Amino acid sequence: MLDEINMTPEQIKGIKRIVITACGTAYHAGLVGKYVIEQLVRLPVEVDIASEFRYRDPIIDKDTLVVVVSQSGETADTLAALREARRRGARVVAITNVIASSVAREADDIIYTWAGPEISVASTKAYTTQLVAMYLLALYLAQERNTLAAGNIKEILGELKSIYAKAQEVLDNAAPVKEFAQQYHRSEDTFFIGRGLDYAVALEGSLKLKEISYIHAEAYAAGELKHGTLALIVENIPVIALATQQSLFEKMVSNIKEVKARDASVIALAMEGHTEVAKIADRVLYIPKTHQILAPILTVIPLQLLAYYMAVYRGCDVDKPRNLAKSVTVE
Ligand code: M6R
Repeated sequence: MLDEINMTPEQIKGIKRIVITACGTAYHAGLVGKYVIEQLVRLPVEVDIASEFRYRDPIIDKDTLVVVVSQSGETADTLAALREARRRGARVVAITNVIASSVAREADDIIYTWAGPEISVASTKAYTTQLVAMYLLALYLAQERNTLAAGNIKEILGELKSIYAKAQEVLDNAAPVKEFAQQYHRSEDTFFIGRGLDYAVALEGSLKLKEISYIHAEAYAAGELKHGTLALIVENIPVIALATQQSLFEKMVSNIKEVKARDASVIALAMEGHTEVAKIADRVLYIPKTHQILAPILTVIPLQLLAYYMAVYRGCDVDKPRNLAKSVTVE
């Protein structure tokens, strides 16, 4: 049910491009949204950090659909980006968790994420529900613009409805993550690598680790490593390699070999059945098989757990991360 999306079929057909803007974790959900909408709806999508968007004299007009993502609905930069977009004539869809928040009140259309009250300062369930909202928006646009066959839409929706059971499976089988955290919690630098949707999730994984365990983490598009940062891959440095995307799997295997050749310690996340990765990585956590496009919903869970265990082993208070506010209402 997308009963707060009020766009007419003509308005949906008139969209020429989409701009997603948000901050922090919500921005990372937007990055997943870009891959998903481009793939399913075949419209160009840009993702911009709200504090950059609002000061950048952005090129948007009435044919641009702007999607703002904000758990709280009160983030100052995201709200200002929304106002700037509307001032320039764009239609704005808000993806938010808080009913009647400022973002919800000022947007043209709303998708509520229904995550319930967020207690933890570091976003976890907010991110997951923002992803689901992105999938629903993409599928709806694809349906209205006829860019995806009805059978494919049904298939993805069916998988989305039952994915919670697979999320539980990931939680139940996360022992390798805990062991990895126990072994490497004293590390001061880590790398997250991935391609495509996995790269977008790697960014969120590295943010979580930084936020609650204060370990320096870099997320890299795996293909970029050899353009400089490979120099920082040294013996025993923990590398978290995301390899859930079938179409990019072989490329990721090469990237894992690149870092293993430099003696990094690799934990890989791969889809069930991709057992060959076990021959090169030090540890592998298998994600239950799902539609490749929905993998981020499952892949992020071990990364959130990794941040949690690393923080706990380091003696950090995960409920009160240093210098982090629940809602950033100042610029
Ligand atoms: O309420 P918002 O979604 O607008 O908040 C945006 C960011 O401040 C937020 O996602 C922040 O990055 C979280 N603490 C991440 O864990």
